[in-house]
Amino acid sequence: MIEVKDLAFSYDGEKEVLKDISLRIEEASYIAIMGDNGAGKSTLVKHFNGLLRPTRGTVLVDGLDTSEETVSSLSRKVALVFQYPESMFFSETVHDEMAFALRNFGFNDKVVEDGVRKYLTLFGLRRYEDRSPFTLSGGEQRRLALACVLTWGPKYVVLDEPTAGQDQLQREILVGIVRQLITQGKTVVVVSHDVEFVAETSPYVFLMADGELVDQGEAQPVLSNERSIEKAGLILPQVTAAFREVKGLSQNIVSTAQAADEIFRLYGG
Ligand SMILES: Nc1ncnc2c1ncn2[C@@H]1O[C@H](COP(=O)(O)OP(=O)(O)O)[C@@H](O)[C@H]1O
Ligand SMILES: [Mg+2]
Repeated sequence: MIEVKDLAFSYDGEKEVLKDISLRIEEASYIAIMGDNGAGKSTLVKHFNGLLRPTRGTVLVDGLDTSEETVSSLSRKVALVFQYPESMFFSETVHDEMAFALRNFGFNDKVVEDGVRKYLTLFGLRRYEDRSPFTLSGGEQRRLALACVLTWGPKYVVLDEPTAGQDQLQREILVGIVRQLITQGKTVVVVSHDVEFVAETSPYVFLMADGELVDQGEAQPVLSNERSIEKAGLILPQVTAAFREVKGLSQNIVSTAQAADEIFRLYGG
């Protein structure tokens, strides 16, 4: 479990960009942290692997106080994948990029090669093994960044704005990957202001605004609650807004699957 207690944080010692945040992320759960640009989402998740340390309050990962642990020991448990993964690549080939972290953690050659092969295959990147990571498309680079961190088997996977700048196909691939991680029993945390993506994957949602937690709950009630959404500087999912325009349709639809069910209920059969 990741337990955040009364967390406050300031970059400059003056302005607090996180203000007394308390929340719990249970094991094997799927969580979204949502809110407008500048709300403090990235700052919050950087506390999960010790990249940032609380100015006040505590962050515990499986009971370990992150202020007392090294980033590298926390990273084995908590993997963060940032919005611009290309900034983290440094190897000549996709294969070496994948192998690096595993070697670094001291795994033997067989474990390294098995891990690299397994995850390249899973993410549809096997054919790029010998290419430079920088020659991949944006979507492929995102997948490679995620594949890299999964090789060492972190329990918690944090994806910061995974859909930013991604086309529809990449978004669908990403929905599949998130579902797969959940099935594997990983704890998945998605940081996003993409209400459509979050609605499709149905996590437990924390809404942030101006460094504070303003609401939380299951995706459907939270994302269809106009007041909460507005407070967090987000907009209603398109499908929710569209359904509200039509009398007689459910007011609380947030995903396309729910929309399809509702249309079938009214007009199908
Ligand atoms: N490295 C930094 N130094 C100083 N201020 C920062 C830094 N990173 C973010 N901030 C500020 O902290 C606030 C929260 O930013 P951030 O956590 O990136 O928000 P979000 O991820 O929700 O868009 C913003 O006001 C931002 O300008
Ligand atoms: Mg951010």
